[in-house]
Amino acid sequence: MDQPDHRRLKEPPPHWRKEIESVLISQERIARRVRTLARQIESDFAGRDLVLVALLNGTVVFLADLLRRLSLPLRLDFIGVSSYGGGSEPAELVFTKELRLDVGGRDVLLVDDILDTGKTLARVTAKLHRLGPRQIRICVLLDKPSRRVEPIAADYVGFTIPNHFVVGYGLDYAERYRNLPFVGLLRPEMFKHPDFIPLLTPKKRRLLQGVENELDSDGGQEKSE
Ligand code: IMP
Ligand code: MG
Repeated sequence: MDQPDHRRLKEPPPHWRKEIESVLISQERIARRVRTLARQIESDFAGRDLVLVALLNGTVVFLADLLRRLSLPLRLDFIGVSSYGGGSEPAELVFTKELRLDVGGRDVLLVDDILDTGKTLARVTAKLHRLGPRQIRICVLLDKPSRRVEPIAADYVGFTIPNHFVVGYGLDYAERYRNLPFVGLLRPEMFKHPDFIPLLTPKKRRLLQGVENELDSDGGQEKSE
């Protein structure tokens, strides 16, 4: 497991420096970790009828990399979820794309970008369970255990991170930055940027109220086996 050491946080490429403060998890570390996760998944699901179910939109980059590392028969489907809701009301989860494949009796690997409060995955797993799969396992790129509200854990975790708001490698801030090839920390002033505030969902706004993006905490740690 990597030692947490903020001095190892790298500067982002020049093009991103105005908006991104630092690289929390580099492209190379992500690639190494994805290879390891893929090996574990391959051995755990060998001989099974596997359906990968990915949540839109944050998983696209992680999913594309993970998928190409999996040398076993599988099928792929997507579920779209979005959180809406006004003011201080709890955000309501709306399904924007329903599952099409039949998962009854099959092994489901649910893939998401980040496990935060756990509300999203709790709702989605409850819905999937009603379809009668043989089992549901959860794979996430990032885990923020300090923010958990629902009693839910992932079976495969890329990196465990502190209570930072992160962007890149699929994760967004006001729908931007999904295309960064690394996971990075936004500059704090970006949270107050007038171009972005109106674009934030109430859920993202609440999430940003509790983040600690100072650089004196640990970087992403590979979950110990
Ligand atoms: P949960 O329902 O609180 O577990 O929320 C999970 C979702 O919140 C993720 O799929 C992301 O869309 C979003 N999210 C949570 N933390 C972050 C973050 O640090 N950056 C970007 N999106 C985040
Ligand atoms: Mg998401």
